[in-house]
Amino acid sequence: MTLAAARARVLRALSPLHPLGWVSVAAWRRCSQAGPPAALPHGGYRAWQEQAARDPAGFWADVARGWLRWDSPFHTACQPGRPAGPARWFLGGRLNVSVNCLDQHVEKSPNRVALIWERDEPGTAVHVTYRELLDLTCRLANTLKKYGIQKGDKVAIYMPVSPLSVAGMLACARIGAVHTVVFAGFSAESLAGRIMDSGCKAVITYNQGVRGGRILELKTTVDEAVKNCPSIKHVFVAQRTDNKVHMSDCDIPLEEEMTKAASVCTPESMDSEDMLFMLYTSGSTGKPKGIVHTQAGYLLYAAFTHKYVFDYQQSDVFGCVADIGWITGHSYVVYGPLCNGATSVLFESTPVYPDPGRYWEVVQRLKINQFYAAPTAIRLLLNYGEEWVKKYDRSSLKTLGSVGEPINKEAWQWFYQVVGEGRCTLVDTWWQTETGGICIAPRPSEEKAEIIPAMAMRPFFGIVPVLMDENGKVIEGNDVSGALCIAQPWPGMARTIYRDHQRFVDVYFKAYPGYYFTGDGAYRTKKGYYQITGRMDDVINISGHRLGTAEIEDAMVNSKQADHPDVPETAVIGYPHKIKGEGAFAFVVLKEQTAYTDHVKEELKTIVASKIAKYAVPDHILVVKRLPKTRSGKIMRRLLRKVVTEQSNDMGDVTTLDDPSVVKEILDAYQKYKDKSSS
Ligand code: PRX
Repeated sequence: MTLAAARARVLRALSPLHPLGWVSVAAWRRCSQAGPPAALPHGGYRAWQEQAARDPAGFWADVARGWLRWDSPFHTACQPGRPAGPARWFLGGRLNVSVNCLDQHVEKSPNRVALIWERDEPGTAVHVTYRELLDLTCRLANTLKKYGIQKGDKVAIYMPVSPLSVAGMLACARIGAVHTVVFAGFSAESLAGRIMDSGCKAVITYNQGVRGGRILELKTTVDEAVKNCPSIKHVFVAQRTDNKVHMSDCDIPLEEEMTKAASVCTPESMDSEDMLFMLYTSGSTGKPKGIVHTQAGYLLYAAFTHKYVFDYQQSDVFGCVADIGWITGHSYVVYGPLCNGATSVLFESTPVYPDPGRYWEVVQRLKINQFYAAPTAIRLLLNYGEEWVKKYDRSSLKTLGSVGEPINKEAWQWFYQVVGEGRCTLVDTWWQTETGGICIAPRPSEEKAEIIPAMAMRPFFGIVPVLMDENGKVIEGNDVSGALCIAQPWPGMARTIYRDHQRFVDVYFKAYPGYYFTGDGAYRTKKGYYQITGRMDDVINISGHRLGTAEIEDAMVNSKQADHPDVPETAVIGYPHKIKGEGAFAFVVLKEQTAYTDHVKEELKTIVASKIAKYAVPDHILVVKRLPKTRSGKIMRRLLRKVVTEQSNDMGDVTTLDDPSVVKEILDAYQKYKDKSSS
């Protein structure tokens, strides 16, 4: 099927119920006030969906002209990727992202609250106005410049969420530097790998972090990481606690410098397609890849989806509890809300600190209107019972959102009925680091349209999903499953993998030429809604955090760095986990099986924590004599998944196995392991 036919399919799916009374975005924008509009225009969702599917370039051009503040207008809205690859958007246009997120709001309402920092210590929230955030951003930008950071330079931010870390991101945007935020739970080795790949010149960090009442030794981790990173010239160290940390010659006390710096910083005028940031994420093979997002298209898509998926209204308090170390934090804590002049909550703590009522106490105290969280947290909290929720007033809530992994029906119902009292819209949002913003979600849609529990359902404006069969053919009709692809470009999509464009093209555009392949499978229901069925590759999703099983395997095996000399081979698979969604299950082969085995297992866990992060540590490590392999030596992980998830003796077709007797061996070992763990 051609792109035009795919588009036509979306239009057909939309058209039967409503004759389209569509109105052009431009015409509507002309009669609306400056700044993000308050509501969908006449004709609503269907009108825009139709326009966006029929003429994506025209649709997004209209939106971009009205939504963003430009230094100079673009001449071409969309240049398709040739021969296969991502499109480029708003060519010739120039703008500054920090001006869109700050200055334009300071001009109109300087005292509007931009950020509410809900610090780990309960009841100590800090409010930061747009004027104050601009001041922080400019001082930080001038400090970076003073120490030689220029347009195009890369800066790592190794900080939990806070006004200073947001100012760090915006300061980079102001001077045209490129930030790469590294989740502050990643190990020194992971941080070093990202710094080396991106060639960062500086790191911004805190002396220490505070989470769940515990201290995180951030500066110590940075010291450990930068030992091996010659590109780093300076480490800017802010103070989150009063504790002293070791400071060397290249360490700069950040607040001290910012006090001395000027509070005005002329914004760099950036090309629409200049890099804004890169964010490392896992794939099924190799090391994490630096996904690159650019200026205008990303910002527009984050802001537009923030407005319409959550029905954000001016003066609402938007509470996305994600960390800025992930794409959700970038798009729906920082860039989307701030571009829309919203008040965005920065949640530094955990859902269970000091008790399992924390989220709802915060909702009551800060009067949060939109609450956006990961299913893993919801699953955790539902175990503690309803009392923790009902203790607090949640009447401010209007929209609830779920992100990052499939939400099971039980968690969805609890979120909807208990937290939202059955009166809030609950949106299960599907998207990826690569897509920049939400692509499939129940809203926006025509008013009061049905929402089916635990389903992302409807494509966003301009998103044309298609399902593919194994032969690369588009699957027509409803009640079908296949590989989820997107048929036409949208402005928020990533442009490349840093320093590896070929890998980008190969991973996302090669499997189904002419389409963006998401790596996920999906089911299209009888009514034409989309249900995500999970990854089709060796990527697992632990507590909403994406991880390649190969990364865990690489960390454990006896590689060149002799990670563990007793472990020549491992295979890691994902298995369903009640709270985390998925957990890692490792099968390992030891050189010698001795009484020493338990000790090796503990060592392996420590190695994974120190090479990647704590969340990557396998829940289970099962020692086996050998792994199931094909005659060409490829590990058949499919069989291992069957053993763990189905516990069935029927392994399907095993004719390609080198030695089929390995199946019984592994089943027996697994059974023994289970018996031992339950005794
Ligand atoms: O498998 C999908 C899953 O998370 C992957 C993207 O992970 P990441 O880039 O880390 O971004 C997470 C935050 C947007 C997807 O390929 N995923 C994300 N949202 C959902 C989901 N799976 C099911 N339902 C969702 N709502």
